[in-house]
Amino acid sequence: MKRQMHLNLFIHSRGHHEASWRHPAASPLSLFDIRYYQELSQKAEAGLFDSIFFADQLALQDDIAHGPRTGLEPLTVLSALAVSTHRIGLISTASTTYTEPFNLARQFASLDHISRGRIGWNIVTSWSALSAHNYGGTGLLSHAERYARAEEFMTVVQGLWDSWADDALLDDRVSGRYAKPERIRPLNHEGAYYQVAGPLNLPRCPQGRPVFVQAGSSDQGRGFAARYAEAIFTAQLEKRTAQDFYADLKSRVVAAGRGVDQALILPGLSPLIASSEAEAQRLSEELGELANPEAGRQRLSGRFGGYDFSYLPLDKPLEPEDFPDPSTVEAARSRTEVILAFVRREKPTLRQLLAMLAGARGHYTLAGTPEQVADLMVDWFNDGAADGFNVMPPVLPAMLEVFIAEVIPLLQRRGLFRTAYEGETLRAHYGLAEPASQFG
Ligand SMILES: Cc1cc2nc3c(=O)[nH]c(=O)nc-3n(C[C@H](O)[C@H](O)[C@H](O)COP(=O)(O)O)c2cc1C
Repeated sequence: MKRQMHLNLFIHSRGHHEASWRHPAASPLSLFDIRYYQELSQKAEAGLFDSIFFADQLALQDDIAHGPRTGLEPLTVLSALAVSTHRIGLISTASTTYTEPFNLARQFASLDHISRGRIGWNIVTSWSALSAHNYGGTGLLSHAERYARAEEFMTVVQGLWDSWADDALLDDRVSGRYAKPERIRPLNHEGAYYQVAGPLNLPRCPQGRPVFVQAGSSDQGRGFAARYAEAIFTAQLEKRTAQDFYADLKSRVVAAGRGVDQALILPGLSPLIASSEAEAQRLSEELGELANPEAGRQRLSGRFGGYDFSYLPLDKPLEPEDFPDPSTVEAARSRTEVILAFVRREKPTLRQLLAMLAGARGHYTLAGTPEQVADLMVDWFNDGAADGFNVMPPVLPAMLEVFIAEVIPLLQRRGLFRTAYEGETLRAHYGLAEPASQFG
């Protein structure tokens, strides 16, 4: 069989365009109504997507006046979706910086049981300074320390997920033996950041552990992804940088002793689809007119760790010197590199930069026909830039519906996308090996 493309649906607000929440084609439901998420995940399942995904921030973002900077807590949402879908994978973000490993191991193991093996964990170290103030008030940890902590966190959670042997649970009503205590062992972890006795208080989960997803693209982020991630989300604005990222990550995965196909690279793609290019352009302009550049300026400042851009006129062409050096940014470092590369290449005005970021926050956007979208996807997939895509519809559910009705059949016709689910678990959809139990 031909190598297959993998598709994840990134569910965000009423779509990924900054102004989607106001657009007439967006869902009429409240963002706090679970039916909105049920409908989207059921549509994605009918479209045979591998998975859906929720990002998460641990603070109310400070420009709530201009758009929804908030949402339901994603693990709670996944619990509801686990019982209203049947096959699609379900991925949530959770932070290694602001969660205790025991809590996280327990929640994800529970979700994997509830969904019968469909859970993935997007491992983040949390870059937002606002989040830091909700957890002890000591301020944002440095980029390096967040990743050091994440390493130890991984040791602990993996130990907890493996603290029950596969055969530890008997549930034998006849003999009266519920479990074999000799097949459940403590962890006794004593490290720089965590002291965790273990064992976990529930049995090994259907996938052994959740599928590991990662989305940090800095040098530390890539190193971490190479060791752990089975799917990697990334923001790329050009095919060439996507190819460089792909080649670099795959070589790091191999150097870490892992199979090259055991870490899927899924760049973000936000397709605005219409029956003609002119109509797609018209829709793009309509959305652009609904976006507020001053709100965009505030978000840009957040990306650069609070850097003040208020002095920059909207219509002045930008210079790289207008921005702080990304290596000094303790927040979302790799995204700041993406933004600066765009400034160097395109020399946009601030207004143009903000309009581009309003599209999908620095992910690739494309306004065109279904054929143009499919052609781009196939080109990136065949030319060393992607194993599939993190699909980020600009308006939900309208642009998801068009993608499923018009683009997926084109991919299927070329033999690059499934026509039915074959496996039952997220691991199976992604073609990943089962992790061997470390219990022995
Ligand atoms: C598709 C995608 C989704 C992300 N979701 C989250 C998220 O939910 N929460 C978060 O704190 N960071 C999120 N990030 C940010 C990354 O985890 C990472 O912090 C950021 O890309 C900066 O990477 P770096 O720290 O390696 O430079 C996401 C990134 C991407 C590309």
